[in-house]
Amino acid sequence: MELIPAVVLVAFLVWVEGSTLPYSSHRSLRKTFGLSSKDSLCNHMLKHLHNGARITAQMPPNVEGHWVSTSCEVRPGPEFLTRSYRFYPNNTFQAHQFYYEDNHCTKPSYTLIIHGRLRLRQTSWIVRGGTEAEYHLHQVQTVSHTAAKAEELSQRLGRSCRGATKGPWEPDRIYELWHEEGGYDCSRELNFTMHELQLLRLEKQYLHHNLDHLVEELFLGDIHTDATQRLYYKPSSYQIPLQNAKNHDHGCIICRIIYRSDEFHPPVLPPGADLTVGLYGQWVSQRCEVRPEVLFLTRHFVFHDSNHTWEGHYYHYSDPHCKHPTFTIYAQGRYSRGLPSTRVMGGTDFVFKVNHMRVTPMDVATTSLLNVFNGDECGVQGSWQVGVEQDVTATDGCVALGIRLPHTEYELFRMEQDAHGRYLLYNGQRPSDGTSPDRPDKRASSYQMPLVQCSSSSQRSDGGRGDGDADRSLLFHNEASGRRGGGSRCAAAALLVAALLRLCQS
Ligand SMILES: *[C@@H]1O[C@H](CO)[C@@H](O)[C@H](O)[C@H]1NC(C)=O
Ligand SMILES: *[C@@H]1O[C@H](CO)[C@@H](O)[C@H](O)[C@H]1NC(C)=O
Ligand SMILES: *[C@@H]1O[C@H](CO)[C@@H](O)[C@H](O)[C@H]1NC(C)=O
Repeated sequence: MELIPAVVLVAFLVWVEGSTLPYSSHRSLRKTFGLSSKDSLCNHMLKHLHNGARITAQMPPNVEGHWVSTSCEVRPGPEFLTRSYRFYPNNTFQAHQFYYEDNHCTKPSYTLIIHGRLRLRQTSWIVRGGTEAEYHLHQVQTVSHTAAKAEELSQRLGRSCRGATKGPWEPDRIYELWHEEGGYDCSRELNFTMHELQLLRLEKQYLHHNLDHLVEELFLGDIHTDATQRLYYKPSSYQIPLQNAKNHDHGCIICRIIYRSDEFHPPVLPPGADLTVGLYGQWVSQRCEVRPEVLFLTRHFVFHDSNHTWEGHYYHYSDPHCKHPTFTIYAQGRYSRGLPSTRVMGGTDFVFKVNHMRVTPMDVATTSLLNVFNGDECGVQGSWQVGVEQDVTATDGCVALGIRLPHTEYELFRMEQDAHGRYLLYNGQRPSDGTSPDRPDKRASSYQMPLVQCSSSSQRSDGGRGDGDADRSLLFHNEASGRRGGGSRCAAAALLVAALLRLCQS
């Protein structure tokens, strides 16, 4: 259900892009993406993302303050948790991770309390717009909230926790899992790390165009989808963001519950029913999304539940504001609903097939790259032009973009209503090793950033396909920007090397 090109290609694109020619203005983007004056809400929402105007990223980020989850989060495994992180002016932090038995976070099972120190380093080479950081742990403690969990943890961890109290553990008591001077480490048994602190991004936005209503969001590094890799993985994208408890969305009741909690009073979120996943209508990204290995994109899906077909538009960009398009993929196929997931409480299994695909290169670099590839492996050889869409179904997809057709993916979905009553659709997190979930056993156990429903009808108000030539001339008539100089090309080359290294290590 997602078409993610190969690592090296993307790095190459970014590298070439550093020296690129024109990029399009918002006006041509509107045109290119088929946004007519009678915009549908879906297009309007995507357009807002493309503009990116309301969101600013603070670099380097000042993370001082108290940051909380806005929902019951799902980590690979699955693990259900909420987070409450405090960063102090003296560069130390105290992080609470509250774990639960259920997918609505109503039954707390145990809490980890993590003390340490954080030092921001340089801007990330791996993820543009991110800042790298180093952390140092002082202490990790745990509190169980039920007798059963206390017993389980003391059996699992007790033996290696030489510093901890002898005998069976009790609920509502603090036990030490690790201390920098303790000489024992039973946090390892949980595969515990705080590597999420190695990559940060802070975004500010004014909600509802109201200057009094600032919302600050803190993005921390992603968690590897394979539990056995967690300890060794350096984040290359983000988790769902935390919000600043002082500057949060006022509709976020959950934020307030988490803000007031501690290890002896873990947050208990309001109970809710699992919504039946209804795949119909249209859904769009809420933000410029980041994928592992330097890829930025927005998504727009149309589901036809009458005949179980779907259409996906993937708009790829080279920058974290989703302003500079690189290429667009349109995919189409069938889907079938499976059973409620036996592994992930609250999730539903689906199978997605991609049968048709069209590609539109949006910049000179991507166009050259597509033209370099030989033979009949991606459209008509040597015929690619900026802004002109080609159907690549006949060539079984596009080798240059790493996509072979027909393609099948085993998906996991869940639906939720947000604080404003809008429907959110979550689909499975991509395997962190860059592969696709093309076998049932590779199905995700956690989710990506949610899409928001923008129309309950699957009929698009416009054709959704741009007029190629008009778009192209528009693209080229925009003023070329001299913003990127040789320096950025150098940084981009380093990025390529970094990406290659990562590839070789994995
Ligand atoms: C840092 O500040 C926090 C909060 O004010 C305090 O609890 C902690 O002891 C301080 N740590 C150091 C090493 O000064
Ligand atoms: C932790 O990782 C090891 C391998 O490194 C794995 O065998 C084990 O199942 C993991 N434990 C948990 C609780 O995920
Ligand atoms: C499925 O239904 C939609 C609208 O109801 C239609 O536009 C589309 O062509 C149909 N697809 C197939 C393969 O029948």
